[in-house]
Amino acid sequence: MAAKTYLTRKLGANGPAVSAIGFGAMGVGTYYGQTDSEEVFKTLTYAADRGVTFWDTSDVYGSSEETIGKWFSTTGRRSEVFLATKFGSVDINLVAKQIYKQNSKPAYIRQQLEASLKKLQTEWVDLYYQHRVDPEVPIEVVMETLGELVKSGKIKYIGLSECSIDVLRRAKAVPFAGEKLVACQMEFSPFEVGIEKSGFVAAARELGVAVVAYSPLGRGMITGRFKSRAEFEPADIRQMMPRFADENFPKNLGVVDEFRAIASKYSVTPGQIALAWILAEHPDFVPIPGTRTVERLEENAKAAEITLSLEDVKALRTAVEAADVQGERFPAQFASLMHAECISLDEWKGE
Ligand SMILES: NC(=O)c1ccc[n+]([C@@H]2O[C@H](COP(=O)([O-])OP(=O)(O)OC[C@H]3O[C@@H](n4cnc5c(N)ncnc54)[C@H](OP(=O)(O)O)[C@@H]3O)[C@@H](O)[C@H]2O)c1
Repeated sequence: MAAKTYLTRKLGANGPAVSAIGFGAMGVGTYYGQTDSEEVFKTLTYAADRGVTFWDTSDVYGSSEETIGKWFSTTGRRSEVFLATKFGSVDINLVAKQIYKQNSKPAYIRQQLEASLKKLQTEWVDLYYQHRVDPEVPIEVVMETLGELVKSGKIKYIGLSECSIDVLRRAKAVPFAGEKLVACQMEFSPFEVGIEKSGFVAAARELGVAVVAYSPLGRGMITGRFKSRAEFEPADIRQMMPRFADENFPKNLGVVDEFRAIASKYSVTPGQIALAWILAEHPDFVPIPGTRTVERLEENAKAAEITLSLEDVKALRTAVEAADVQGERFPAQFASLMHAECISLDEWKGE
């Protein structure tokens, strides 16, 4: 059994404590190629044993919810995990380059929650996120619906993902539900610090909402494990991600060397340094690296135990600022889904 790590972080100013490094279960179900279900099962067990108990999934991550549900029912360990899942994206097929739609209408939210509870074989979700903002539904209507679900006991806390600063402020202002809004899931890694520049981080901090940093390893890039697009399976989502395009990939690997140089001083890996750097720079961020193996789960979990010197934190920041990352984080057809706005309550005509 793994040695248990007790390093935790509070989710937002008034939220619960969760493991300082979480576990992203997207790759478990889809997007990053074939999975070995036996190893995935062992990885879930290892994560729970290790105290990496902040798990992240979604209704659009292929078989991820079903796999977690099977693990809950087989092990009986549901209450050890702080489970986050998401609703709101429909007809998603990034690999087929299909532009997906949003649906955050109240009836759809309730329907999707029931479907997720069934797949997850649980009676409650600890943190329920809107995956992408639905431009056609006021965030106030979404929050009212989620607030009712909190009151029913089916969800405990509320989260948003890829919202704008304005949407976050409006959501936080909704009575009762706003108090339960403890986390915003946004992309953040050495390759992606846009939320700092846009003022999103400052706004979230002011409102007491945690940033849950998704793709904190830059979809694997910062680990130095992948050198070219040819290493990805045909159905791997990174085949269509601009930062992994043939003309951009080699240039983006430059920052990996800078992280590797500092990693060697601590006898750790560049991926571990990336996670330690996120934790050091932002005391209210919780990174959720995704993996499908026990070995890599252990490597990522151990990053929470690294204490970087102030000098190294500064050197990493300098490397990040100088990186000149090539390529957007998503293909152009998905750009409008990021940091999106929605209609006002006055414009809402009902379902
Ligand atoms: N809200 C959103 O819109 C959104 C979007 C994307 C992701 N997410 C969430 O964020 C989580 C993490 O993001 P992500 O999975 O996209 O990217 P990530 O965590 O930055 O990177 C995952 C990739 O890195 C590899 N990897 C992980 N640990 C490694 C290690 N120690 N050494 C070498 N390679 C390693 C993984 O491979 P293996 O799997 O083969 O180990 C996988 O290919 C997801 O699982 C999901 O829950 C949310």
